Amino acid sequence: MTIAPVQSSPSLGSSGWTDTRLILALEEVVEKELNRHLGVAKEWMPHEFVPWSQGRDFDGVLGGEAWNVEQSQVTPLGRVSLVVNLLTEDNLPSYHHEIATMFGREGAWGTWVHRWTAEEGRHGIAIRDFLLATRAVDPIELERARMSHMSEGFESDNSHSMLHSVAYVAFQELATRISHRNTGKYAGDPLCDQLLAKIANDENLHMVFYRNLLKAALEIAPDQAMRAIADVVTNFRMPGHGIPGFERAAAQIAIGGVYNLRIHHDDVLQPVLRHLRVMEFGGLGPEGLVAQNELGVFLDGLDSQARKFEERQAALLARREARRNAG
Ligand SMILES: [Fe+2]
Ligand SMILES: [Fe+2]
Repeated sequence: MTIAPVQSSPSLGSSGWTDTRLILALEEVVEKELNRHLGVAKEWMPHEFVPWSQGRDFDGVLGGEAWNVEQSQVTPLGRVSLVVNLLTEDNLPSYHHEIATMFGREGAWGTWVHRWTAEEGRHGIAIRDFLLATRAVDPIELERARMSHMSEGFESDNSHSMLHSVAYVAFQELATRISHRNTGKYAGDPLCDQLLAKIANDENLHMVFYRNLLKAALEIAPDQAMRAIADVVTNFRMPGHGIPGFERAAAQIAIGGVYNLRIHHDDVLQPVLRHLRVMEFGGLGPEGLVAQNELGVFLDGLDSQARKFEERQAALLARREARRNAG
């Protein structure tokens, strides 16, 4: 199999686990998880989820009707969030490059890398078809944002270490699941909700694959895996952070309750950490204990930041409500 070059990172500790050795040691687990995934992932057809009867020609080449915001029932929050989710999915070539470089393209790892890429490809296709058929977002703005976002590419924060990469994707797949799920909930269109629930289900299976891999890594190389989890959790950024206007969109998404600090802490970090029993994990050496302790301190801090966010959110929503009632 093609394997990533041997990495030497200062955080690898004294146990001598290089990325190459870890990739080989985990190959059996990857094969088992891949087979489990293939057994539970049911085929689904993106075209069945798109209401094509709502579609019609656009202006320009075909001389149809220009896009207008009034044409769709999707909420403003739904539009912002759908665009962020779609552009995130759109950068798949870069994600494929990152994981193929890290995990290799042969053996069970390679089969997973390609299968995962094919499943993710379906998400971008389905969401774009849905948005264009239902005229939910400005197609010209969307295409320009896609060009700009993909032209920048995506570089992982974790390409220096395979354990950091595995830890990141375990949390990131769950973050993506929650983001699609909540976008559907607030989109104001039951068909959109139905499609995003289907996609969220795929993201959940991706999370389970990586989470189970991370569990095996914790058993093989506990100190290094603990360090990777601590680093990834304390420096977590969403894969779409390079999207044009991301900060502003992220603020709207946070206030609207699609994705914010409270959701990140309660629905993304904690479920994975609890499942892996990360905070109760015994048998760590001094380096693992330091990482576990850092993680605990960080999570406490994040929880109190999330509480402050919720207070600001409640105040802002109350002001908006008052303005609506006054107007
Ligand atoms: Fe996806
Ligand atoms: Fe995914």
